[in-house]
Amino acid sequence: MKKIKAVIPAAGFGTRFLPLTKAQPKEMLPVVNKPTIQWVIEEAVDAGITEIAIITGTHKQAIENHFKPIEKLEKALEKAGKIKELGEIRKVNELANLEFIIQEEQKGLGHAILCAEDFVGDNPFAVLLGDTICTGNPNCTKGLVDIFTNKKASIFSVEEIKPEETHRYGIVSGKEIERGLMLVDDLVEKPDSKEAPSLLGIQGRYIFTPDLFDYQRSIKRGAGGEIQLTDAIRLMLSDYPVAGYLYEGKKFDCGSKEGYVNAITYLAKDILDN
Ligand code: G1P
Repeated sequence: MKKIKAVIPAAGFGTRFLPLTKAQPKEMLPVVNKPTIQWVIEEAVDAGITEIAIITGTHKQAIENHFKPIEKLEKALEKAGKIKELGEIRKVNELANLEFIIQEEQKGLGHAILCAEDFVGDNPFAVLLGDTICTGNPNCTKGLVDIFTNKKASIFSVEEIKPEETHRYGIVSGKEIERGLMLVDDLVEKPDSKEAPSLLGIQGRYIFTPDLFDYQRSIKRGAGGEIQLTDAIRLMLSDYPVAGYLYEGKKFDCGSKEGYVNAITYLAKDILDN
């Protein structure tokens, strides 16, 4: 099997978190000891993925800066004998092979994924939303990689949500084929609770065969006037099986105030205890 690559969409304006995210990318907000997007990249790396494209915007240069060597800082730390700190920042520079791709216009998640088509080529690829932290053992992406490697079918993780939350998620229906694994038969992006086919929401972790691009290219603007990834997956269903994986770890949407605060509260326990 070809190597799995990863695409991390991180080009949005962070409107749910204004004014904090006016100049500071939401993916760069600190979650205890590192920015959200570093947690996300580490999840991909822990799942064995090292070729990673970050889809970003010209207004979000801080993301690229965080992962680039800063010679002046390294020299200063070396001179001061701060070897531990030097090691820490070098680790960030060397986390993975990162490629930064600019999404010129913010036309939605599906459009962001299309920006990575050349980078992905004919490899399978994971998608990890850059503002969402997942924790658990195995981590969510690793769980998806293991199932993908075995079943060779596109797959994404889902979670149980409340009826009043359906307008914030892609909602999925299907039938359970193994414990915690379903064969998807329909998806709809951000429906009203009355129209939602179930209470299973897409979490923001996916693995696709490269065929996804054939469908994504033909998708027009959908929910919220955006080009949606969910609509491309729905189209793909007519030709390929797609699986849903009920992830049992924690997920924090750090693009929202509530998710961000919960992430810090939860993750601080582990880090400050150690
Ligand atoms: C995106 C997806 C949606 C998914 C959600 C998870 O929406 O389009 O299907 O359920 O992420 O957070 P967004 O949050 O970018 O509006």
